[in-house]
Order: sequence, then C-alpha cells, then structure tokens
Amino acid sequence: MNEIRPIEWANGTLRLLDQTRLPTEEVIVEVHGYRDAVAAIENMQVRGAPAIGVTAAYAVAMAAHELDSSDRATFLRLLAEAGGEIKAARPTAVNLMWAVDRMMTVANAMTDPGTDPSEIKERLVEEAVLIQKEDEAINRLMGSHGKELMPDGGSVLTHCNAGALATAAYGTAVGVIRAGWEDGKRFKVFNTETRPFLQGARLTAWEFKKLGIPSTLVVDSAAGMLMHRGEIGCVITGADRIAANGDTANKIGTYTLAVLAKENGIPFYVAAPTSTIDLSLDNGDRIEIEQRPQSEVTEFRGIPVAPDGVEALNPGFDVTPARYVSAIITEAGVARPPFIESLDLAVRSAR
Ligand code: MRU
Repeated sequence: MNEIRPIEWANGTLRLLDQTRLPTEEVIVEVHGYRDAVAAIENMQVRGAPAIGVTAAYAVAMAAHELDSSDRATFLRLLAEAGGEIKAARPTAVNLMWAVDRMMTVANAMTDPGTDPSEIKERLVEEAVLIQKEDEAINRLMGSHGKELMPDGGSVLTHCNAGALATAAYGTAVGVIRAGWEDGKRFKVFNTETRPFLQGARLTAWEFKKLGIPSTLVVDSAAGMLMHRGEIGCVITGADRIAANGDTANKIGTYTLAVLAKENGIPFYVAAPTSTIDLSLDNGDRIEIEQRPQSEVTEFRGIPVAPDGVEALNPGFDVTPARYVSAIITEAGVARPPFIESLDLAVRSAR
C-alpha cells in the first residue's frame, strides 16, 4: 500500500502535503525556515496534534541552522526564543509543546562548554528525524492494541481527521480502524464532515478512499440520529490534549458525540500517543481552547454562507469529560478508567 506521509525532510528542507488544498489538489509546499514552519502550522497546511509535533521538531532544527552564533550559551538562548515562537503557533495540541521541549532538552544536554553549535545543529536534525520515525511506529503500535476494540460486523464512527495526515504516517483513530481492517475484520465506517474546516469530509474521506476502506460521510448533526437508530457500534476519535484524569480535548463536536454515545449505550474510544497526555493538568478545565477565525463559519473558501457582518463564534476544540470515555488507546496499551491511574502508568511505561 502507498503510505500517506504528509511530512518529508530532504536536504534541510521540510516538504509538507498542503492539507488546505486536499482533496482536490495534492500539492507539496516547501518550507525553508522555522518561521515558514510556524506559518504552515498556523494556517493549517499541516494540522493534527502529532503532525504538528513533528513539524515543530523540524522547526526547532531549522531555527538552529538559521542562528549564526558560535557561542554555545548565546546560541541556546536564541534557540529557546525561537522555541517559544514555535510553541505559540497553536495553543491546544500539547504535542507541539512536547516536541519543542524534547528538542530543547537535547540541545541543552550538550553541556560541554566547548561544544560547537554546529554539532548541536546536526544533533537536532537527528532528533527531529527520530521523533518522526517514532510517531509512525507508535501509531502502528496503537493500531495493534486498539484493533481488539474494533467490531467484526457493525459499524464505527470517527470525527475530524485522526489519520495519517494528522501524524507522521498511519494515524491514531484512523490507524486503529485500519488495523482492524488489516486484521480481517469488516465493519461499516462513518465519518463526520467536521464543520467548519471539514477535516472529515476533505481529509478523512480522502484517506479512507486511498486505504480502500469504504466510508460513509455524514453531516455532524446526523450522528445522534444514527446512534439512536442503532447504526453506530462505537465511536473512536483522536485527541489534542488529555489531562491526567482522562478529560480529553479534541476537535469541536467531540463532546457532543461522546455524550450522545453514552446516552445510547455506545462505547467511546480515544486513540492518542502518550505525548498527547499532559500530566501537569489534573483535569481538562485549564486546557486552552483555540478560537479560530469567524470567517471559517461565515464563509466557505471565500463564498459567504451567512449574512454580511453576522457575529460568529468558532472554538476549534472542546473538552470531553473522562466519564464519557470508555478507553484511551496509547502505544502502551488500552487504558481504562480510572484514568488517573491507567494514564500515569501508560506515560511511565512509554518512557
Ligand atoms: O484543528 P486540527 O485539524 O489540527 O484538529 C485535529 C484534531 O482535532 C484531531 O482529532 C487531533 O489532533 C488528533 S490527530 C491524530
């Protein structure tokens, strides 16, 4: 199978499959400097928590190469400043902060005062390549753990895009669905269009087509009716940040799906790497929710879909309280409630 790998590093240049152009055009954008990488994250040419993390890691490596200081201490100070800019690109996906911190830890660990910054620069490229490789391996592991939760017969609903495009390759929630199919299980797949940015319609439906897994696209608001009719066997989504107690931030509309799933007695699963778990937060109340431009709601690709000047609110994410989550699949296995214990164990065993 031709794997979808949305991020490629070649000779000091980052090549991104432009996710704003899919599904109609498959265009590669070349990113030559860290500020361009930040812009690509901000304008959603690359999106999805793990993919943002991988891009951020390369952004730190590029920032290092853009610095010409030969003094180690000055170099590290300027690199930390660039790291701060990279972290500010989007607020909710903690993989962004996780990746920058990991890169800075690597740079700072080269403590010999005689270390030439050029050695640090090379080491940072190696680390970014490693983060990208690890992400693919982690997704495949999540698939192997999560496939047991996929039904043989029946159906699965997924939201937003938690596929290869949102990661280095393979995907989180879509990876689990794919692993179930690769295991020979057969079930119907529904995916929501995911208003207003249409990650489900544009990206997930495109991926399922490439994978040869038949999927049915539904408007977000059809999910409740389908669940009530018994047409959905389970729901599986990705995550942008998971607090220590299992409260899960993910694409706006996830909370609605989770509540509907509970009301209808349907399991609700989350698939995410341990780099998405933020043990510094006791619960989801303090997860910063990105506010996106009003124009994403009032227009579609420049065409107005609401009266001129109308006020719109566009939160990019919501937080699903842990009580609605049946299990969280990570590379360390399938974590069940109480998540305060099982997530702590998952994070520790993944290190
Ligand atoms: O705004 P986006 O498209 O970056 O949001 C993406 C999501 O909400 C995904 O579900 C999440 O990042 C998990 S991706 C494996």
